[in-house]
Amino acid sequence: ASDARLRRVMASLVTHLHGFIKDVELTEAEWETAIGFLTRTGQMCGDARQEFILLSDALGVSMLVDAINHRAPEGATDSTVFGPFHVEGAPELPMGTCISLDGKGEICLYQGHVLDLDGKPIADALVDVWSDNADGFYDVQQPDLQPKWNNRGVFRTGPDGSYAFRGIKPVSYPIPDDGPVGQMLGALGRHPWRPAHMHFRVTAPGHARLITHIFVGGDSYLTSDAVFGVKASLIADFLPVHSPTEQWRTDFNFVLRPT
Ligand code: DHB
Ligand code: FE
Repeated sequence: ASDARLRRVMASLVTHLHGFIKDVELTEAEWETAIGFLTRTGQMCGDARQEFILLSDALGVSMLVDAINHRAPEGATDSTVFGPFHVEGAPELPMGTCISLDGKGEICLYQGHVLDLDGKPIADALVDVWSDNADGFYDVQQPDLQPKWNNRGVFRTGPDGSYAFRGIKPVSYPIPDDGPVGQMLGALGRHPWRPAHMHFRVTAPGHARLITHIFVGGDSYLTSDAVFGVKASLIADFLPVHSPTEQWRTDFNFVLRPT
């Protein structure tokens, strides 16, 4: 059965690839440029960097695959790109804990509920969160500068399905643009920036895993995200608050669909 699927996928790929080459009447020099580009992209792939995923993201391929595979039913929270910076095994923390460990940036209280499609709270959901720091770098990009697990944590919902944690109000941030994908963006006159976002992976028994972000409302890159990840339903209001523990607050519920 998988061989039949492979033949179908490859037949379509070759058909469309040939169609594209005929459409632009690709020159031999352009073909060589393409081979060189793909070779350099592969050479940039290792433990700390996956340039092919970056390429897929920058071409909108990742979001298209996401759209086809996660047609959220009415009421369920939309998904978006996973991105290259999640780290498995972040510490599970008590509700309300601040995940920003480097003292940089403005603190925001994130809170809400994890719910099912009927609006019932989901207990024992794991809310795994991560963001860049106030300088626009994830901890794994600056292992010698940032504390381990800076701006990462896992929170487990109680019987009422609620979650709460403190983190920074994230800042907009350029995808790594010192490689072939960055060169491609430059050659096309595209910028490498992503609008500010907090990443979430929400999992719970009996429910489909949700990979998404909360975007900071008002960010200037919301309409030109370098990886096309923005969905209107994921843009949240960040409200200024006067509190000794935080300067901002945002309320966001996650609605999971059943498996
Ligand atoms: C990508 C996603 C991110 O969330 C990020 O911070 C950087 C890059 C990406 O999809 O390539
Ligand atoms: Fe990100």
